Amino acid sequence: MDGIKQYKEKLISIPEAVAMVQSNQTIGMGLAGSEPVGLLTELANHRDRLENVTLWTCLPMRAYDIFMHPEMEGHFFNENWFYTGADRKVHPEGRVSYIPNNLHCAATDKLFATKNQLNIFWGTATPPDHRGFVSLSLGLIVEKELLQAADLVILEINENLPWTYGDTQVHVSEINYFVENHVPLVELPSTPSSEAEQKIGGYIANLIEDGATLQLGIGGIPNAITSFLTDRKDLGIHTEMLVDGMVDLYEAGIVTNRRKTLYPGKMVATFALGTQKLYDFIDRNVSVELLRGSYVNDPYVIAKNYKMVSVNTAIQVDILGQVCSQSIGTRQFSGTGGQLDTHRGAQLSEGGRGIIALRSTAKKGTISTIVPTLAPGAGVTVPSQDVDTIVTEYGVAELRGRCVRDRLEALVRIAHPNFRDWIREEAHQLNIVPNDIIFKAGK
Ligand code: COA
Repeated sequence: MDGIKQYKEKLISIPEAVAMVQSNQTIGMGLAGSEPVGLLTELANHRDRLENVTLWTCLPMRAYDIFMHPEMEGHFFNENWFYTGADRKVHPEGRVSYIPNNLHCAATDKLFATKNQLNIFWGTATPPDHRGFVSLSLGLIVEKELLQAADLVILEINENLPWTYGDTQVHVSEINYFVENHVPLVELPSTPSSEAEQKIGGYIANLIEDGATLQLGIGGIPNAITSFLTDRKDLGIHTEMLVDGMVDLYEAGIVTNRRKTLYPGKMVATFALGTQKLYDFIDRNVSVELLRGSYVNDPYVIAKNYKMVSVNTAIQVDILGQVCSQSIGTRQFSGTGGQLDTHRGAQLSEGGRGIIALRSTAKKGTISTIVPTLAPGAGVTVPSQDVDTIVTEYGVAELRGRCVRDRLEALVRIAHPNFRDWIREEAHQLNIVPNDIIFKAGK
């Protein structure tokens, strides 16, 4: 049967699709910009007939009723591997729990835990082409694996989604049902960089050579870097997340992907999140490949890129070199996501480097982000044995292969001057680096 005919036969309303959910089931879904907005919104209307439904999420973009309202207790539970603001708010009420994982293993870990049983997958996609294929569009972090594992697959079709290339295409015959919901796409505008972030961007840009391949995380610091790369040549992109700054670099002729050793000529990513400018750029763009997170973020795949530089941000770094990027003490803030994947992959690459960049203080300069010990209960995102390069607005600390005494010295130099004595004194008091050794190292 032809694809378009099959599509029309499988098209149902959103309430009809949600009526298929049963108590005690687990629903996996498209993540971030691939979130099925209509289905998730409608689910709240089915509260009274449903008990113990588990939603498996990451980076939710909206505060859905099923997650936010206390009366959803016992009806819906959110297992989430990357918190956003709504999850932080609801966490103390007990209706969400964090799943520790690394992005490239997220789907396989989950399917391992459920013995390969996933009741439902809800994703988003473009309308079908004339051959009956849809494009999963903005993301392939876990979507393909979940779609293939689930007993029931429903896609929410949105004509505003860009058609992306790579591994995104699925034939309508592989999908059980479709619903249509042509809503505007979620946008994440770039934030202007602060003065400190500009300084950090300048230091990092000095570590990026012509021909390097980049992975840049989200936020002011990666934005700042791009403005310092204007005289670089032939940069490439192999990244977890495609962002607007990469489009700027491509349009300026700085990113050419020409010297990449894996997928030459192509930008490789596992999802895209930014503004309409980014979504227009990736639409039917043969120079962009969206591939599965299990592949793109596999450290050994990342390592196949020559001079791979990964830049991520953090909340605290202690003098052992442990990096916390996911929590503020015991308070779950976000998640590991692909930070450890990309940090490790960059170091495995020939000429590569894993960079963690952060402002030296938080809370309007009142606390240091370089600390003697991580706050009690902080999640370790990059262990001390994996750490490489830390950058603040005071400079660059190269920690890889260095002893703790030397790490302390390097980190004190890039800490805010108001906190340098405190960090040294604590290191002594706690016997992490005894005083006399500090004295010798300081010579
Ligand atoms: N102690 C206490 N609070 C701190 C802090 C510290 N040392 N450092 C930061 N904070 C607070 C800030 O004040 C801010 O609080 P607020 O939201 O109440 O204002 C919050 O933590 C976030 O800080 P900010 O620096 O604005 O965060 P960001 O938006 O730049 O994101 C991370 C930084 C680390 C949270 C984010 O990059 C992340 O989640 N990373 C992990 C995953 C990852 O890197 N994946 C790969 C990238 S694609």
